[in-house]
Amino acid sequence: MKKIYIGTNLKMFKTIAQTTAFLQGLEERTKHVSRDEMCLFVIPSYTALESATKAVSLDSVKLGAQNMHWESQGAFTGEISPMMLKELDLDIIEIGHSERRQQFGETDYGVNKKVLSACAHGFIALVCVGETREQKDAGISEETLSAQLKIALMNVSPDNADKIWIAYEPAWAIGAGGTPASPEYANDMHKVIKRTLRDCLGDRADSVPVLYGGSVNYENSRELIVQDAIDGLFIGRAAWEAEPFAKIIDLVLPLWKEKMKAKV
Ligand code: PGA
Repeated sequence: MKKIYIGTNLKMFKTIAQTTAFLQGLEERTKHVSRDEMCLFVIPSYTALESATKAVSLDSVKLGAQNMHWESQGAFTGEISPMMLKELDLDIIEIGHSERRQQFGETDYGVNKKVLSACAHGFIALVCVGETREQKDAGISEETLSAQLKIALMNVSPDNADKIWIAYEPAWAIGAGGTPASPEYANDMHKVIKRTLRDCLGDRADSVPVLYGGSVNYENSRELIVQDAIDGLFIGRAAWEAEPFAKIIDLVLPLWKEKMKAKV
């Protein structure tokens, strides 16, 4: 794993103009960082996607959508299809964010259909998994993560491993009321995820990056990124302005490089 993966989901925030300004600011403030060392990505709202693809070089900032229906077309009012997203220069489809699971009834089986469709259409599927507070308190975090992943990756060929990214985002850690996971806890869950990925994808699983998300900020990013099994950060609120986002990148990148050196 050579590159650090670092990105943000803009959720239902930012107009088209605000998204464009954010992306251009981010590109400018991160231009000193080689993209051989960092994969930087942003996931804006649907309405901002087309202009986003023109606002920045897609070699410097990869773009993605926050959701996608699995069918290419059909009578699915309010949904967006892979064919429609394929018309844009997008790399990533985020699938199964906990807000979609909890507030919009998304199931593990629906996530699986979307993952298969994303792979079939040549997108990277950024699959979000994470236990709820109740599941954690009941002592079933590991079982929950492993079940979510095994269902999400059902029938995904190991040949598609390079199209899979995973974000571990415990539901209790996300958003303004969330408590960030301790770095040790997050690392332990990443290890569970990596073991499960091997069950699903064999050796090819080693190329799948596993990112941590959930109340990541400048202060805790340092402790998180030095953890052995954390391959990147998926940040919400703390990354929604270019300057503070770039500061997190500048903080974690040297730590990441040291970690990589120590692994060789
Ligand atoms: P947060 O969001 O960093 O604001 O907690 C994370 C996410 O939902 O991906």
